[in-house]
Amino acid sequence: MDSDRPHERPTAFDRMLSPVHRWIWSDADRRVQKLLRFSETETDGGRDILRAAEVTSDPLLRRLYLEHAIDEFRHGVLFRHRAAELLKVSASRSSQGFHGDWLAPGGHGLDDLQVDGESDRNMLAFLHLSEKAAASRFTVYRDVMQHDPPTRAVFEEILHDETFHMNYTLMQLARVEPKRHRRHLWRARLSRLWKAYLRVATGLAGILGSMLLTIQYFVLLPPFAWLAKRAARRESSGWTMVSPGHRDSLDRQY
Ligand SMILES: [Fe+2]
Ligand SMILES: [Fe+2]
Repeated sequence: MDSDRPHERPTAFDRMLSPVHRWIWSDADRRVQKLLRFSETETDGGRDILRAAEVTSDPLLRRLYLEHAIDEFRHGVLFRHRAAELLKVSASRSSQGFHGDWLAPGGHGLDDLQVDGESDRNMLAFLHLSEKAAASRFTVYRDVMQHDPPTRAVFEEILHDETFHMNYTLMQLARVEPKRHRRHLWRARLSRLWKAYLRVATGLAGILGSMLLTIQYFVLLPPFAWLAKRAARRESSGWTMVSPGHRDSLDRQY
């Protein structure tokens, strides 16, 4: 899709993380893994938008969603091809190292998308915010990719489409909900914020749980281990004579 509109400016948060993104993308192996993951995200997003085209009753939206889905599938192919080219050069193997996915995520956040049962206005509000986030992140990724001009060109090309997606979804939202489109945007924003909070809270709960278990292991277990060792030292080794008064214990269970 073509658009003469200017590109989205990255958010202050994405700009602030530029040095981190530069570091994450500087490693060739990590770049391959991230491009492959981005390819999956784009293709999955395209599949969901294709489903949105099936369920909408608005003919214009159906056509736009179809074109949008084709764009996302194409982005998936572009990312995969670039990853394959890099893989040929570096002969990289699957690396299990740090990929910084939570710091440099795939653009859209379309993984949160629930197509069935969503109204057109909710779908458009969600898509607009997702595409806006994608445009912001891809702008930063493109800018930190000076050391790899072909990958930078891929981001540049995809960014062009994401900006168009961001703009058409907003225009269509204003068409289907002329008076209340801002309210829908705020609702979608709060929903994204809530999901982001849940993701962070889940991650934090995992970290806190591990820390508490580690503290318990090193603080609570040693006294018990010490007591057990002391009791073991007091036990005399080998067979022990039973005093005559305890003989009757053999006649009953306790
Ligand atoms: Fe895309
Ligand atoms: Fe997009």
